[in-house]
Amino acid sequence: MTAGRTDALHARARRLIPGGAHTYSKGDDQFPANAPSLIERGEGCWCWDTDGRKWLDFGMGLRSVLLGHAFEPVLTAVRNELTRGSNFTRPSPLEGDLAERFCDLLPHAEMVKFAKNGSDTTSAAVRLARAHTGRDLVAACRTNPFYSFDDWWIGTTACDAGIPQAVKDLTLTWTYNDLDELRALFDARGSEIACVILEPVAMEQPLPGFLESVIEIAHAHGALVIFDEMISGFRYDLRGVYGLYGVEPDLATYGKAVANGFSVAALCGKREVMRLGGLDHDKPRVFLMSATHGAETPALAAGIASIDFMRANDVAGHVGRLGRRLKDGLHAAAADAGIAGLVECIGYDQSPAIVCRDAEKRPSMALRTLYLQEMFARGVMIPWVAISWSHGDAEIDRAIAASREAFDIYARALEDGTDALVQGDIVKPVFRRFNREA
Ligand SMILES: Cc1ncc(COP(=O)(O)O)c(C=O)c1O
Repeated sequence: MTAGRTDALHARARRLIPGGAHTYSKGDDQFPANAPSLIERGEGCWCWDTDGRKWLDFGMGLRSVLLGHAFEPVLTAVRNELTRGSNFTRPSPLEGDLAERFCDLLPHAEMVKFAKNGSDTTSAAVRLARAHTGRDLVAACRTNPFYSFDDWWIGTTACDAGIPQAVKDLTLTWTYNDLDELRALFDARGSEIACVILEPVAMEQPLPGFLESVIEIAHAHGALVIFDEMISGFRYDLRGVYGLYGVEPDLATYGKAVANGFSVAALCGKREVMRLGGLDHDKPRVFLMSATHGAETPALAAGIASIDFMRANDVAGHVGRLGRRLKDGLHAAAADAGIAGLVECIGYDQSPAIVCRDAEKRPSMALRTLYLQEMFARGVMIPWVAISWSHGDAEIDRAIAASREAFDIYARALEDGTDALVQGDIVKPVFRRFNREA
């Protein structure tokens, strides 16, 4: 492969695709200048760019690839279906086979509806809650950055161009672990709130009783609770938050790891609510989700094979053990570089996050860019930390060793500034109003 080919492919993507990539998180503005611009293939926890360079991958398909790239047990199931056709005029039994697996794992999954994107499932959950309660407002936890690309959520972000004010006014926000703020919302507008939506666990641990209280407050006012488990599902525990804390929402959404990178997302919930999207009731019909490709059989087969693998193997335990190793290793390396407390690896062991701060302990995009750049320079792609079943101790140690060297440069930047050390633009937040904004 030649760099000329890569440059041409990259330029073509920028010309033909808004943002140069389907997903904003994959865009050029999210990566330092030395990151590969295109990835051609992956295997296990490694991937190869269009110049044939090999990278240790911690991005793992935006966290969807929990088992590993091109993971053979999943591929076998997909291949079997590919030769039998991928879309039919009536449902395939695979749809029920996968639904049954969710219902076996999760007590709140009494009915399941599949989709191709997590965004569609959270938006469908909101629609269902509105239909069930006859109310319009959504109380969304603002600590979580993203639930859906649909207007009801994007209207709350800085990137709200094209979204009518009337739609924005329907989503209220509150802070994770702040029950007083949630109570105040319900005290003010409780009779209008259809649902509360939150990632039940993300970075912060829930305070004791927090999740139970969210449900209690919402139910006391006749609202439903939606848990968005797009990231926590299967990764934090095979049974997600139910497995960790035993708490059951009315509706829950899953995506990402369900099918190890194949496109399957799921809306699960209590029958009493979910049935409104079905044929067996006399209430107004809820057009829940209904898409041509919603139940594509190879993807459903990937979901079945992935869940069966995760039931037979302690994937969340493996990921958590390696996450702990990474956190300890990074903290030791940061201490040795004299930047303890400035670079931190926080959050659940199953989903650590690396925070880069300046000498005043403020989060710094410039220092984050420098850290990512120095990791790319050492063959490690770690825009966030998504450890998979295919990672092992050796890969974690490699990331720690690369970080040790990166931290020495980080420490130098604290003295001399980042300008001379960062090679291109500083990475930017996805949710900003103007492209040129920092
Ligand atoms: C917590 C959360 N909810 C919902 C979504 C949307 O899922 P999808 O990208 O599959 O539409 C994401 C995606 O990153 C997510 O992280």
